[in-house]
Amino acid sequence: MGGSLVGVGVGPGDPEQLTLRALRVLRQADRVFSPTIALDSLGRAESIVRQADSGIAVERLVFAITGDDDARAAAHSDAAALVVACLDAGEQVAFATLGDPNVYSTFHHLAAAVLERRPGTPIATVPGIMAFQELAARAATVVLDGTERLSVVSAVDGADALDGPLGDPEAALVVYKGGRHLPEIAERLEAAGRLDGAVFGELLGLPGEQVGSVQDHRARPATYLATVLVPPAIRS
Ligand SMILES: C[S@@+](CC[C@H](N)C(=O)[O-])C[C@H]1O[C@@H](n2cnc3c(N)ncnc32)[C@H](O)[C@@H]1O
Repeated sequence: MGGSLVGVGVGPGDPEQLTLRALRVLRQADRVFSPTIALDSLGRAESIVRQADSGIAVERLVFAITGDDDARAAAHSDAAALVVACLDAGEQVAFATLGDPNVYSTFHHLAAAVLERRPGTPIATVPGIMAFQELAARAATVVLDGTERLSVVSAVDGADALDGPLGDPEAALVVYKGGRHLPEIAERLEAAGRLDGAVFGELLGLPGEQVGSVQDHRARPATYLATVLVPPAIRS
């Protein structure tokens, strides 16, 4: 049948964090797509790829960021139609995505919509460095040791997402998509006795980057590209 689709993680922001494998796959692809909110808007993943190799031509796929399920499904379907046309022409298609393609990425939505239209399409992923890994490194925070556990939550709908994981003192907690709720997240950590040692990273590897304690950044909402990392309260 020809044609294959690969989701390529490009890391959180710094082009130096694009892996050798990711760069090779992007260079070898016939077409490289990346998500954006509008055709004339440079997405983060595209920007990283451009900085890593300006010879790679990145084409934009528009994904709706609205909460409206129908609008999102329509965007996935339109994007899939474009990709399927390339696959039908026998092309190897790569999709560059921020961080890792298997963690909170649009890639699996695209892959599912492609498979619906074109069952049997070979789909693969290339892992990428995740934002919380970069935050741990930058803030010199050991995430896990011994038998400790890790919870990763999305706080897009607010700080309630922290309540379950905070009940486990031997688990580290990563909070994604909670930038706008940062003041409430800090309150929730404080109430659980977990503010000490909690670190914050915003726009990691990108212009305007901020790294520091949650305590120092809790006064205002942050941007969407913000991550909180809370080490376990009891260390093994
Ligand atoms: C749609 S998820 C993408 C996660 C990504 N696939 C990963 O593996 O890290 C977006 C969330 O990832 C985190 N994130 C991604 N890039 C980031 C960056 N450069 N700086 C801080 N947080 C980032 C933020 O929490 C953001 O809300």
